Amino acid sequence: MTTSSAYVRAMAHEDLPAVLAIEAESHPAPWTEKIFVEELAREWARLMVVALPQGESSVVAFCNYWLVADELHLLNICCALEHRRKGHAQLLMQHMLKVARDRECRLITLEVRASNVGAIAMYERYQFERAGVRPGYYSDNQEDALVMLLHLGTEE
Ligand SMILES: CC(C)(COP(=O)(O)OP(=O)(O)OC[C@H]1O[C@@H](n2cnc3c(N)ncnc32)[C@H](O)[C@@H]1OP(=O)(O)O)[C@@H](O)C(=O)NCCC(=O)NCCS
Repeated sequence: MTTSSAYVRAMAHEDLPAVLAIEAESHPAPWTEKIFVEELAREWARLMVVALPQGESSVVAFCNYWLVADELHLLNICCALEHRRKGHAQLLMQHMLKVARDRECRLITLEVRASNVGAIAMYERYQFERAGVRPGYYSDNQEDALVMLLHLGTEE
């Protein structure tokens, strides 16, 4: 599990160098700074980071989700390579579940690369269901996206 002192807070523009470094080592087609700046400005978007207390390397994970009507849509969740399997993404998943429940969302939705077995295992641990496939969804390698859904209120 994670160090108990890691905490979730809103992403700030000052976090972008650390966020971009994590993004670059996490995705085959990483988002640019421009995309993050646009997301930070969107009224319906939320960007959160997991930070370590002062003295350590601060931002170690982040996520980006949208709140639209009664759905929370997860666009991105990443953890720095050297900090994986310490529960940091779990802190972000728990944060999103709380936000979704507090706002009485009906659904959490996401797309994930069909080959991304680690992320799929994480979502299934949170009882997300495989709802369908978007063929050739990812333009860098024409990989399929798996659509996953969590119906809130029905999970155990
Ligand atoms: C997916 C990702 C965000 C997980 O981050 P993390 O901080 O390492 O995850 P956690 O330590 O909180 O793991 C929580 C649980 O998810 C599951 N899990 C996470 N990574 C896994 C992996 N590689 N294989 C199998 N299960 C995994 C496990 O059940 C894990 O609990 P455990 O360690 O007690 O077994 C991280 O691997 C990552 O950044 N990947 C690249 C970006 C990406 O693919 N993002 C998702 C698509 S947008």
